[in-house]
Amino acid sequence: MERTIGIGLLGAGTVGGTLVRRLVGESEAIASKTGLTFDVRKVGVRDLSRPREFDVTEGMLTTEPTEVVDDPSVDIVVEVMGGLEPAGDLILAALEAGKPVITANKELIAARGPELIAAAERKGVPLLFEAAVGGGIPIIRPLSETLAGEHLERILGIVNGTTNYILSQMTEAGVTYEEALAEAKALGYAEPDPTADVSGADAASKAAILASLAFGTWVGPSDVYTEGIEAVDAMDIAFGADFGYVVKLIGTAERIGSGVNVRVHPAMVPVEHPLAGIRGATNAVFIEGPSIDSLLFSGPGAGGEPTATAVLGDVIDAARETLAGAQVAPRIRFSAADVVPFEQVPTRWYVRLLVDDKPGVLAKIAGAFGEAGVSIRSVWQEGVDSEAALIIVTHHAAEASQRRAVEAFESIPDVIEVASVIRVLGDRV
Ligand code: NAP
Ligand code: HSE
Repeated sequence: MERTIGIGLLGAGTVGGTLVRRLVGESEAIASKTGLTFDVRKVGVRDLSRPREFDVTEGMLTTEPTEVVDDPSVDIVVEVMGGLEPAGDLILAALEAGKPVITANKELIAARGPELIAAAERKGVPLLFEAAVGGGIPIIRPLSETLAGEHLERILGIVNGTTNYILSQMTEAGVTYEEALAEAKALGYAEPDPTADVSGADAASKAAILASLAFGTWVGPSDVYTEGIEAVDAMDIAFGADFGYVVKLIGTAERIGSGVNVRVHPAMVPVEHPLAGIRGATNAVFIEGPSIDSLLFSGPGAGGEPTATAVLGDVIDAARETLAGAQVAPRIRFSAADVVPFEQVPTRWYVRLLVDDKPGVLAKIAGAFGEAGVSIRSVWQEGVDSEAALIIVTHHAAEASQRRAVEAFESIPDVIEVASVIRVLGDRV
């Protein structure tokens, strides 16, 4: 059956602009490979005067996004405007109208996933969001389909391109945090408000989505313990390198007993771990399960081209289902998550202290760790005049115990400052 599929976009910035250019410019190649012909019919934007990277035809642009959803010639709605509203209600309206929806909006899927997925199921239309995690990396489909039968145990992800780019530039090129962030913005990696990137919030949304799909228990963004990279010091990156670690912002989704824990924080990643070599805006998702042992998915995690590729794949998938008249079967069933508080999760810590360089200090610090039930793995000290930098790496102990030890340093007068605390990536315990 030959039919041209009408596409409506909500947003035409970094991702949407690239998608329109490719839908138009690569239409013949897409048609010859898939048998599908697309026509971009309506595009919702905020500013009509902004230059676009595609040819704007008469009547194509509107500043009234409901016109995109309501246009009867639009068969599939692509939401690439970002943010919770009006994106959320527009998607709901499109689904209610029986239109398949594609979105790259991880913030929205993490916040309102169950409601939106339920609306899509009710109407029997696809709601696809491959681009929401990992940019151009296919990860949503493998988790929801190929790996649906595996009892996944842990997912470790570098799921924010901006922060990985910043940390890589600080590590490899000696660039400052501010300079690297400015570069990430110019390269189109950062969110419109890059606070979402550097604070870990963007990675937390993605980690919540990955956890929900992997474990079949819905985890919301507020269930994710989140720390960003704002406090990562170039000194810790350098010390980490000396001790065989690379500092990365890691999202972890892990089964703990019968529950799950999901967290995002900077981590010292051992150089031999596959995630240590993931550089620049590249993302990677490392998946562990009893039958698959481990799998690594990696690739470009941000930027217009790779992200538009994932969106385009979803558009083609949704078009096939639309043409087939298929009632879309739910892919993953979600139950409520039993979220284990981070305090109960075994972690390992790297702690950098500034102390008075005098007899007995190390013993007092070791004593605080011992009283909290934390065993020390290694200690390194370098004196400068009457002070010393002291770096301690611990063995696994409950996160609460690690915190208790470091809090106890406040009552040791010789501890001048707890300069930094970074968790160390370890095996599952
Ligand atoms: P962007 O460059 O800021 O583009 C946003 C687009 O939406 C712009 O065209 C803007 O209009 C339009 N828009 C925003 N609010 C609107 C409103 N209220 N009414 C009408 N139009 C509105 O953002 P982006 O980087 O393409 O990101 C889009 C989505 O993809 C976000 O959810 C983001 O998290 C996700 N994503 C982005 C990447 C990436 O690398 N950039 C990767 C994966 C996922 P104007 O053009 O007129 O300003
Ligand atoms: N701002 C996001 C990032 C875009 O840097 O990873 C991709 O989701």
